[in-house]
Amino acid sequence: MTHRVAVIAGDGAGPEVIAEARKAVDALGLDLNWNELPWGTDHFHEHGTMMPPDALEVARGHDAILLGAVGHPSVPDHVTLWGLLLPLRQKLDLYANLRPARLLDGVPSRLAGRPEVDMLFVRENTEGEYSGVGGRAHRGLELEVGIETSVFTRAGVRRVVEHAFRLAEQRRGLLTSATKSNASRYGYVLWDEVVEEVHAAHPNVKVERVLVDALAARMVSHPASLDVVVASNLFGDILTDLAAVLQGGMGMAASASVGGERIAMFEPVHGSAPDIAGQGIANPLGAIWSASLMLDHLGEADGAQRLLAAVESVCRDGLLTRDLGGSASTAEVGDEVAARIRT
Ligand code: NAI
Ligand code: MG
Repeated sequence: MTHRVAVIAGDGAGPEVIAEARKAVDALGLDLNWNELPWGTDHFHEHGTMMPPDALEVARGHDAILLGAVGHPSVPDHVTLWGLLLPLRQKLDLYANLRPARLLDGVPSRLAGRPEVDMLFVRENTEGEYSGVGGRAHRGLELEVGIETSVFTRAGVRRVVEHAFRLAEQRRGLLTSATKSNASRYGYVLWDEVVEEVHAAHPNVKVERVLVDALAARMVSHPASLDVVVASNLFGDILTDLAAVLQGGMGMAASASVGGERIAMFEPVHGSAPDIAGQGIANPLGAIWSASLMLDHLGEADGAQRLLAAVESVCRDGLLTRDLGGSASTAEVGDEVAARIRT
């Protein structure tokens, strides 16, 4: 059966890295059909919206979405994010955002002594601090107020925590739950209770509850002590940028957003990188790694493995972009990954 993949290359460095991810997948010669969707900031300037009104139906006609990044200095970031990325995650109910962070051989470590980094973050992806609930009153007046409400539902927390337990069982059997249930007394306390409840069904997984600030410190001081980390939308967002740096840099980090529906979305963790966009120097490996996660989702485990092996092999041989201390261009790295997949 032909895999139908929607491509939202997006803005800035997004299209540059997605081109290399496609090259890598194409090198496998799978039965796969790319459908380019010209959504993003250009669409916004032309039509007033980041994506067309029937975007969700169009998206649902695919098995997966491969996304670059959205965001451009010409449009406020909350408009681009709430016009495309967040509605796709929420309305397709992609509740678990999976972000592996592994320091590959050949990639320079930012930490002295090069400690092992092999973590998997499971970030809640549809509610919490990014629920979109809130409002502003007294606009423009001195007493203006902005209210941003976190929403934690028992069902919403449970499903992502259950997902994290299942992944911990397939890995080293340690699950770290990040909350801030000392200062925040409601949502994160509910979260902690759900973790305990779900733990009862997975007694073989060791669970630890760590306050998010202490966890950020531990990621730097003892990264090898972490396996699977489950966190809320905001905390997962922040911790995974730190995790990306522990695995070399923003350009290395990959993600998968999965949920109840068949369709899932795959994207590098980084944004549109306007500071380096258009120069052909963005690191494409996070995007290629994301494509590997996508192939796993599509049932192409062998292809997924070959893609990741090629990424590991170019890193080991030191063919790196500037962010990792190398001098290769985006396309040079992508071409080499594709060449190694073919051989
Ligand atoms: P960013 O991830 O785009 O950039 C942060 C830093 O990492 C920059 O110095 C950039 O040059 C570097 N970087 C990012 N990707 C890289 C790559 N592939 N290779 C080498 N270096 C790379 O985050 P920033 O600057 O906070 O946001 C820029 C724009 O992207 C904003 O409009 C923001 O809203 C948007 N954004 C979009 C996301 C998405 O679509 N998933 C995620 C994060 C930000
Ligand atoms: Mg982020």
